[in-house]
This record gives sequence, structure tokens and C-alpha cells, in this order.
Amino acid sequence: MLQERVPNIAKLVEPDRVHRLCYADPDIFELEIRQIFEKTWQYCGHESQIPKTGDFWTFQIGRQPTVMVRGHDGNISVLYNRCPHRGVQVCGSRNGNAGAALTCPYHSWRFHLDGSIESVPLEKGYLGTRFDRENPAFHMKKAARVDSYRGFIFANLAADGPTLTEFLGEARIAIDDMCDRSPVGKVKVVFPCNRVVQRSNWKFFMENQIDAMHPSSTHMSTGQAAAEVERKIGRETGEKPLHYHMLSAFTTPFDKWDLLETVGYPYGHTILTGYMGLRPTDRDTLEHEAILEKAYGKAKKDEFLSRNIHHCLLYPAVSIQSPLQQLRVLRPQAANRTLSEIWHFRLVGAPEAIYRRSLWYFNLVNSPSTLVNADDLENWQRGQWGLTSDGGDWVSFHRDFGRDQDDGQVIRSTNGCSEAPMRSQFRAWLKYMTAGTA
Ligand code: FES
Ligand SMILES: [Fe+2]
Repeated sequence: MLQERVPNIAKLVEPDRVHRLCYADPDIFELEIRQIFEKTWQYCGHESQIPKTGDFWTFQIGRQPTVMVRGHDGNISVLYNRCPHRGVQVCGSRNGNAGAALTCPYHSWRFHLDGSIESVPLEKGYLGTRFDRENPAFHMKKAARVDSYRGFIFANLAADGPTLTEFLGEARIAIDDMCDRSPVGKVKVVFPCNRVVQRSNWKFFMENQIDAMHPSSTHMSTGQAAAEVERKIGRETGEKPLHYHMLSAFTTPFDKWDLLETVGYPYGHTILTGYMGLRPTDRDTLEHEAILEKAYGKAKKDEFLSRNIHHCLLYPAVSIQSPLQQLRVLRPQAANRTLSEIWHFRLVGAPEAIYRRSLWYFNLVNSPSTLVNADDLENWQRGQWGLTSDGGDWVSFHRDFGRDQDDGQVIRSTNGCSEAPMRSQFRAWLKYMTAGTA
């Protein structure tokens, strides 16, 4: 039993520090896959990733190869990407169109788009055997549960546990904040996504996104270079393009970051407030706001745009920056290896300039070709090396410990640089990891 190979897991997590093995131990990683990734709601993709009948997208939930497919009735199924004949992956490409049915490349068993069996070559050869086309064991297996929220598809390999709505809870505001910026309440994915393999544990990523202490240190050189050019453009033209601010914001001093707020929810979801320049007043923004006001009325528009989210994490694997329509999802592969898909979205019905803003952010901040991403990856990899070494056993989350506003469920902090979000994530982590053990 894996759980027996990882004894005393509760001893690895203390309120203000955690043991390095949480990041470095392969058995603990396998337990995370079982207890967290294969038991909680995992993001599959957006419905616009597979718009037509037969479109599919392959990915992984925990250790399971999975595929989401658009059916003839428009419904989306999430299936184990495994043929019930001899186990071969049915969809071999990352995405594509399967046509009228899914066909296994090995011996051409065919499956309806919901995974049920359609045809088997030479089926008469099975006469008198235990093969039974009515038996689900001869169908592609479905994920235990599939649900969506405003076009974002999630699947859960466990039949029990909270519904998607219960699981997302208050943190669904990140998806609302993204969609409500469209006058028709919808977003559309922009192909392709970037895929990056990080040589570090998935938790480095999840902690980093709500770590307001790191940008002014890690990304200072990028921020300073951008600020210099931004000032020069400002002097020459009287205007500073917003996308320079996306990088120059990294020169913001620590005490300003500390003015932000953080919230940590029971299932591990976390929010960092502080959208840069909350309501910019440039021409493009004003045009966008006028469109939203026409669609929703002034009160609703103001309500939508007064949300102040920089980053929202849907634990354990999704990062959303809703004001700029960015989404990243993790597909962990090993204790020291994590694949991320990096997406951005178009707001349906919004001006092109607003989409360009999202694209700038995608390219300048989240893309693997930007210095910002490279700086982060470097830190996480060096962190992984450190936590695999004998140089010390503990990871410190002491900043502002004792000042959390903690009602036993939700942990809030009015210091943006507080390590409260990490403490909150680990509280959820421990619950997941020890669930089902007496
Ligand atoms: S393994 Fe799929 S048809 Fe044989
Ligand atoms: Fe960063």
C-alpha cells in the first residue's frame, strides 16, 4: 500500500512550515496523484477547444490518459483514452477530428463519440465467447463525472465527493470575471496553447502565482528594462502603451505589493487581489466599457468591473488571470517534473484591441519565450535541487504567520506578501492526502 510507504504524513505539515519531502519524494507524489489529482475536479479544457462533432482533445488526469470528445448531440464526453480490446490509446494526436466515430488504430474497433462500442471487425469470431457489446467493459470507459461551468469543462475520476459547483465555491468568481468581460458572457479559446515542462514540483507553480513577494525580486531586471523604454516612449509620444506596464509593474516596491489581499478557500483555491491599474482609462478600455454598459446596464457593468483579481488558483492545477483572460493548467508527471498548458482567450463581442491586450500578456509574461517565465522556471528548478539536498529539511512559510484572519475554513490576509495562501494550500493538501485514513 502506497499510504504505508508514506508514514506520518501529518508530521510533514506544520502550520508555519512544511517538510521538503512534500516536494521531493516520489512516493508522496504518487499519493498526491491518487488522493488529489484522481479524486478532485480537474480542468479538461474549454468547450471552444472542440467546437465540431468528432473534435477531440487529449490530456491527462493524474496518471490516466484521457480524451474529451464532442458528440453528435453536441454533448462533451470525457473518456479514458484506452481501447477495451488490448489497451491501445485510441486517439494518438493531441487534438483533431475523429470523424463519425473513434477508431482504434490497432484492430479497428470503433466507438461512438460517447465511448460506447459501434463495431468490431469479424465480430462473428466472438460468438459463444464472453465478449458482449452491451457490457461497458467493452466500451471506452467514461470519467466518473463530467460537468462544466460557463464553458469550462471539468472531469472527476471519483464518483463521490463535492459537485463541481460546491468544489469551485467562491473561487468560481475567476471564471465569472473572465466571461463577464464579454458583452455576451462568453470566451473563446485561442489556439495553440504553449506547453512547458518544468523541472520542478507542481506546488512551486501553485505557490508562485500568489507569491506577491517574488516579482520585485525575481523579475526586477525585466521590469527595469521595460520601465526605461516605457519612459522613453512616454517622453516621445505623450502616451505609454499598456503592454509596457505589464512588465514595468515588476518594479513595484515590496511595500506596494504588501497592500494587496489574499484569500484561501477550504478546497485549496486561492485569490490574490490587485489587477494592475484596476480600471485603465485609455481609449480602448473606454470603448470596451461602453459595449459592456450597453449589454448589461451601468450597475451590472460597474459590479463586473469592480472585481479586483490579479490571480485566482483553482487547486490543485489551474491558474486564472481573469482580467487578461489567461489560464494555465498543470499536468504533473513526477515529483520533479510538471507539464503546463498555457492558454489565453478572446472575449466574444469585445473590441479587437482588448483581445490584443490579452495576447500581449500571453506573449510578454506567460509565454515560455519571455524572460518572466524563464526567471520563474529557473527559481523553481533551483528550489527543487535545494529541496532534494541534505541542506535542510524545512520550507518556511512564516511570513505574517499569526496574523491570518482564519475562521477555520477561509484564511484571509490583508498583507499581499503574507505567506497565508501557501499555509492555506497546505492545509487543504493535508486534508486531501489523509482523507480515507483513520
Ligand atoms: S487494441 Fe484496439 S482494436 Fe485492438
Ligand atoms: Fe514570477
